[in-house]
Amino acid sequence: MRKITPGELKIFIPYVNLLTGIVLDQSKAYLVESRLGPLLDTLQCENYSQLYTKARSDASKRVEKSIIDAITTNETYFFRDKTPFDLLKFKILPDHIDKVKAASPALRPTLSIWSAACSTGQEVYSIAMVLKEMIPDISRWQITLMGADISDAAVQQASMGRYSKVEVERGMAPAQIQKYFNQEGNQWKVKDELRAMVQFSKGNLLQPLMGLPKFDIILARNVAIYFSMENRKIMYSQIANQLKPGGALMIGASESLMGLTDRFEQKNYMSSTFYALK
Ligand SMILES: C[S@@+](CC[C@H](N)C(=O)[O-])C[C@H]1O[C@@H](n2cnc3c(N)ncnc32)[C@H](O)[C@@H]1O
Repeated sequence: MRKITPGELKIFIPYVNLLTGIVLDQSKAYLVESRLGPLLDTLQCENYSQLYTKARSDASKRVEKSIIDAITTNETYFFRDKTPFDLLKFKILPDHIDKVKAASPALRPTLSIWSAACSTGQEVYSIAMVLKEMIPDISRWQITLMGADISDAAVQQASMGRYSKVEVERGMAPAQIQKYFNQEGNQWKVKDELRAMVQFSKGNLLQPLMGLPKFDIILARNVAIYFSMENRKIMYSQIANQLKPGGALMIGASESLMGLTDRFEQKNYMSSTFYALK
């Protein structure tokens, strides 16, 4: 693995932060080497300084995109942590269904959900499966289910809806895999009925969120952990602006809104927590 010098690391720390909001420090040399090192060969750079110069001078942004793909942690799996999906099933969705039906019983009911850092799409397809199971008259509903991520490669895999055996077996039982996926060679492809429910796009949660509708439910899980306190504040403020009044926010198990925003009310249900926009 190609070694990064302290001087080169000093250049990459603010650069990665500028591109993604991800906070690195001098102790992360190994992480930078293991993630960006392979790019040196792919992009024919002799060292990290050259990679930086190439990225800054590349008008096509192709190098910058490769750096973002390589440096982001895309760890995810179907039904990750289980409790958020139970919360959705047993509290947030039933409350939403009651609210919508009481407000305008004659109209076509609507539901909009956004996975704000969806990585390779497992979170979004898990939600789609929950909706299929929980809403018996789903064909009557107007459902918007979107996922966004800063990594092009992650969004591309999410859009394809193709997963390896290891990926589908992480979080799903065989019956579920059979119900919602078709095996194609050594890959499992999300069935069209599920794929048709979801849309993916590229987006940076720390830049103005353009062209998105307001959502009833937003999941922003396991992304704020990589950001500074200042950027977490920016992200949650943008997310609050993107929620409908009373909308629900779900964050990661190791994340908290404490000291970052006062726009949400914490709600506890059984042993889980979500946040309602005030
Ligand atoms: C660990 S994954 C979490 C995926 C999923 N939400 C979950 O909990 O399983 C974090 C994702 O955040 C994305 N990410 C990092 N910085 C981002 C930013 N500034 N804007 C949008 N997405 C970002 C990464 O590309 C990565 O896919």
